[in-house]
Amino acid sequence: MLSTSIKDATKEAHLELEKKVVKKLKDIRSDAGYADFLKHFYAYFNHVEQAISPFITTELLPDYQERRNSAYLKRDIEELGADVHGLPDTTVPEITNILQALGALYVMEGSIMGGPIIVKMLEKGGITKGVSFFSGYGEATGQKWGTFVGVMNAQAGTETEEAIAIQSANDTFSHFSEVFGPVSVVS
Ligand code: HEM
Repeated sequence: MLSTSIKDATKEAHLELEKKVVKKLKDIRSDAGYADFLKHFYAYFNHVEQAISPFITTELLPDYQERRNSAYLKRDIEELGADVHGLPDTTVPEITNILQALGALYVMEGSIMGGPIIVKMLEKGGITKGVSFFSGYGEATGQKWGTFVGVMNAQAGTETEEAIAIQSANDTFSHFSEVFGPVSVVS
């Protein structure tokens, strides 16, 4: 099943991105610093949303419009007293079909799972504003994830189809990693 194979096949890409994100989080000292961090998420998620929008229809995923998206990030950035000007450059994988779009959306929807950890890390640094994006779906997270995974699995009936979604998910992770710049060798 795609939900099993995609998790396995993107484990390394997740870890690499997670490391970068945690490092950036640990450097945050102020609301302004947090807003800058969020701008990286906003620039990338907004760009990916545009790339997948022709394929992620409400026929495919009926609750898509109610799902958390980059509008939450924009609101959080503004709550912190910043705005969405001067965004970092982003590139996104080429999305030309539903399977690739679902692979990309898997990465964005899955990012909700790490959200509570991120909110706790921010709290430790005294940051409590602008956390709507990372708060995700709260108690509805499990149910929302189940719905998404069901739709994703239904589109990939063969190994070839699974491979298309997996490649797209891995590319979506690696393009996002690039937004945060190169990993420093000395940590
Ligand atoms: C501080 C940073 C992060 C932490 C600590 C973190 C942690 C986690 C945790 C604990 C899970 C749940 C694993 C499980 O229940 O099996 C998860 C799942 C996931 N995360 Fe992250 N994450 C982080 C950042 C991200 C980001 C930035 C993205 C993507 C943009 C992402 C994408 C995913 C995906 C796609 C899954 C779903 C895996 C699956 O069940 O198929 N994560 N993450």
